[in-house]
Amino acid sequence: MFEADFWLPESVNALAAGSDDLFVFILWVTVVSLVLVMGAMLWFVFRYRSGKAANRLNPPTHHLGLEVTWTVIPTIILFIVFFWGTRDYVRMSVPPASALEIRVTGQKWFWTFDYPEAGVRVQATQALDEQRALEGSPVGLVVPVGVPVKLVGSSVDVIHSMFIPAFRVKKDVLPNRYTTATFLATEEGEFDLFCAEYCGTKHSGMITKVTVVSEEDFEVFIDELKEVSEGPVDGATVFAQGGCAGCHGVTRDAPPGVGPSLHGLYGREERLTTGEFVLVDENYLRESIVNPMAKIVEGYGPVMPAYVGRLSEEEMTALMLYLKGLGAEDGAAL
Ligand code: CUA
Repeated sequence: MFEADFWLPESVNALAAGSDDLFVFILWVTVVSLVLVMGAMLWFVFRYRSGKAANRLNPPTHHLGLEVTWTVIPTIILFIVFFWGTRDYVRMSVPPASALEIRVTGQKWFWTFDYPEAGVRVQATQALDEQRALEGSPVGLVVPVGVPVKLVGSSVDVIHSMFIPAFRVKKDVLPNRYTTATFLATEEGEFDLFCAEYCGTKHSGMITKVTVVSEEDFEVFIDELKEVSEGPVDGATVFAQGGCAGCHGVTRDAPPGVGPSLHGLYGREERLTTGEFVLVDENYLRESIVNPMAKIVEGYGPVMPAYVGRLSEEEMTALMLYLKGLGAEDGAAL
């Protein structure tokens, strides 16, 4: 009962290795506290029960040593839990640079997984999953074993939450914002992926698998997908059709336009008209597209039109990948 496996499926995520130990540690602290507190309470009930000739007139005044003890010990435990938890949380949250990026899109009531490097997409509805299982193909989110994976999640409609118990991963996916989760699978196999945020009638049907395969099988899987896939929306096309190029240059030596150049944009710091600095990450990019007035780069005017509601989630994902890639081939920060 004091093994994490009693409560949870076996952990197959190398990056979450410490979190089960922390869970068991907190469980033990809780059990010991419960026994001490309840034991003392029962003892006092017995000791001072009605009819017992105990002295109730002069209760003892406060006991300094006792108060210090019950303050210091929980404080120490709190700090242990805090630092232990923070260390593990950071390890699970910061993806290694080599991580394979997969975009996860939640919508009522299925998941879509995009592999931007390969330009392929998997949709995981219950019907498609059943069909794939019958064909003997890998089901749902397919990832290679022993390779760090970074999931970038967003939602088309309401809040969903991707929950993969065997990886100890649970992350909300939200409309209009990106969240990330990282894992490194240590074993091949099929593991459950649930939606863990009530999202409407078929919330309970928003369930699929994470299939961990060998690196060779993963390549085969991607190659097969490339053949059948019609290819997701192309970010450069979205950029051109959205009229973005009218104001923003995308090459290293583009002349200054109405808006800032987007070459090597991702990961750099921009100075805003307010004097603040902001790191260009996906959430900043997204905000600057849907609501450009929110943060304006110093030296530029508030002239960009808002794209809120004008791009589908799919187009937004494609555009985001395109923007992240600008200048990356020249060695600019990515
Ligand atoms: Cu999506 Cu619950």
